[in-house]
Amino acid sequence: MILVTGANGHFGSTAINFLIEKGYNKADITALVRSEEKGAELKAKGIAIRIGDYDDTDSLVAAFQGINKLLLVSGTDLQNRTQQQTNAVNAAKQAGVKHIIYTSFERKNETDSSPIAMLGSSHIQTEAAIKQSGITYTILRNNLYLEFLPMVFGEKVFETGVFYPAGDGRFAPASRIDMAEIAANILMQEGHENKEYVISGTETVSFPEIAGALGNIAGKEIAYISPDRATYIAALTGAGVPEIYAGLFAGFAEAIQQGELVPATTDTEKLLGRKPQTMEAYIKTVYGKN
Ligand SMILES: NC(=O)c1ccc[n+]([C@@H]2O[C@H](COP(=O)([O-])OP(=O)(O)OC[C@H]3O[C@@H](n4cnc5c(N)ncnc54)[C@H](OP(=O)(O)O)[C@@H]3O)[C@@H](O)[C@H]2O)c1
Repeated sequence: MILVTGANGHFGSTAINFLIEKGYNKADITALVRSEEKGAELKAKGIAIRIGDYDDTDSLVAAFQGINKLLLVSGTDLQNRTQQQTNAVNAAKQAGVKHIIYTSFERKNETDSSPIAMLGSSHIQTEAAIKQSGITYTILRNNLYLEFLPMVFGEKVFETGVFYPAGDGRFAPASRIDMAEIAANILMQEGHENKEYVISGTETVSFPEIAGALGNIAGKEIAYISPDRATYIAALTGAGVPEIYAGLFAGFAEAIQQGELVPATTDTEKLLGRKPQTMEAYIKTVYGKN
């Protein structure tokens, strides 16, 4: 029996859809959600739901009973995530889960000097907890989602241009859909035991190139402005973005500038069985009708 956490979220629900599409027996899939209401759509699809919260280890121990493979989708609470995910690993151990597949994050610098240390440390500590538990694992070192780009652009990118402090740094984003399909493949296959995979695009891209791809769609030049960090954070917080997210977005930009998100190799194509969606194709899909 498989259990997918974060099952009503984007990644978890897409992974479940792929499992169903690929013919995995629905009766062998369970979905962790935080309430009955959040599980309604899954139930309507014929997927059994279990209720649990990363903050409540007992709820997770109960939810993980009878589960062999657990897709642990990382949580969204940046401040409490390390404890929450450690709770999930402890619960998995207590419930006798055999294999944890964890959605982690690509990085090179694992010290506090990393511009994304706030985010990276919870992934690093969760990976360590999984390994210490002795449970078989598969770690997915996901690069940035292509779906991150529209959040960076804002709603009027064709008028305002792209405003993001990443300079001409490069990174290797992949679509969340492709990443979720890879997670589904791993859940369905053998041979991924105690492996760590790099999941990214197969090409690197820069923000000048991304603005260029938007320009191709608009039929005009789309400006790319790379402000300094303070100007960027002031602009975001001035527009009502909470400081923690403004800092996180600026941290990603700095990480891109430092080459943190350019992996030496990637396992994406092998695990997906085809080339992943490119940045240009993604931009065309989202903005092509504008
Ligand atoms: N690589 C990247 O670029 C990137 C970008 C964004 C996020 N991420 C990471 O990838 C994860 C999946 O992405 P996504 O797009 O699917 O995010 P999402 O749509 O926000 O889904 C997150 C899921 O986690 C669940 N969750 C959050 N806190 C929980 C808790 N305390 N207990 C149980 N479940 C909890 C949410 O449930 P509720 O609906 O109940 O809150 C939701 O189902 C994110 O959570 C984040 O860690 C990566």
